[in-house]
Amino acid sequence: MTTILFAAGQRAWPAWQAPLRAALVEAGIDADLTLQAAPEDVDVMIYAPGGDTPADFTPFSNCRLVQSLWAGVERIAPNPTLTQPLCRMVDPGLTQGMVEYVAGHVLRAHLGVEAVKSAQQAHDWAPVIPPLASERPVAILGLGALGAACGRALVGLGFQVLGWSRTARQIDGITCYHGAAGLRDVLAQAEIVVTLLPATAGTENTLNAETLALLSQGAAIINPGRGSLIDDDALLAALDSGQIGHATLDVFRSEPLPQDHPYWVHPNVTVTPHIAADTRPSTAARVVAENIRRMLTGDPLLNLVDRSAGY
Ligand code: NDP
Ligand code: OXD
Repeated sequence: MTTILFAAGQRAWPAWQAPLRAALVEAGIDADLTLQAAPEDVDVMIYAPGGDTPADFTPFSNCRLVQSLWAGVERIAPNPTLTQPLCRMVDPGLTQGMVEYVAGHVLRAHLGVEAVKSAQQAHDWAPVIPPLASERPVAILGLGALGAACGRALVGLGFQVLGWSRTARQIDGITCYHGAAGLRDVLAQAEIVVTLLPATAGTENTLNAETLALLSQGAAIINPGRGSLIDDDALLAALDSGQIGHATLDVFRSEPLPQDHPYWVHPNVTVTPHIAADTRPSTAARVVAENIRRMLTGDPLLNLVDRSAGY
């Protein structure tokens, strides 16, 4: 019997309990899926930010897998007491949600919907024909599970897609760059930038005064990655000067976004409340069960976090 501690929080339990039990049965795993267990009895821990995860993992001496229900693991990966393998979430439902969010907001920026609304409010019949997607360069910063899927979807819509990652990547239809020089090359060409990087020391303030200045005047930023990817003061200054035309922000350094934050009222900012893509229990429960099966059989774990890289 495999003891699986659901430490992702009582609020998440009703949504996850049935799909997880079904997926474990489907995978042929004899499991005790529980909200409470003695630490030394736990074989697998299911984690999500804001859940009941311990600050100290040392007592979980027999745990062989910590499975995150979130893609981003910045709140748990740096924990020095966590010596167990940590796996992040890559879920078909989550990926599809992100593709829809990114495609929707890229199209909104591409079609100039904000300017159309302003003209309408002024009763101003001002036809501005947007370029075709093939004339619009879009940069995706981060070419992982989500960035690559979004990039492919944008290629499918006809956009010129440029991508940037830490290590060299090759993705059909996407012109890929990496490293510090690669970032400058990508930004110098882009009119719309989508940030899908993880929050690590290496990605902090990727978009700052210097890098925002590389973009073409009036460029749009879409950030469903993490708040720490952007220097907020630099972005606000770039929005005020017109260097950045519009920013759609889903994630923030402090969440919920504080009531008095300038983003709430900025005319050229769209705030979405960290809803770009949720992990869907109906698809993700199978991902969790598959990783537990792998742990039990000794097969390589899926989506293992590289603790030195932080993602
Ligand atoms: P992955 O780990 O699959 O991909 C991360 C990508 O970022 C990789 O391409 C990686 O490069 C690149 N990267 C990491 N560090 C650097 C660096 N220093 N310089 C350049 N590139 C770097 O993550 P996912 O695609 O699954 O998710 C990305 C992020 O999206 C998550 O970490 C999370 O923060 C956010 N997210 C937000 C959600 C929301 O609802 N708003 C929902 C889900 C996720 P390489 O390919 O070389 O490894
Ligand atoms: C995630 C998120 O990382 O929802 O999964 O932000």
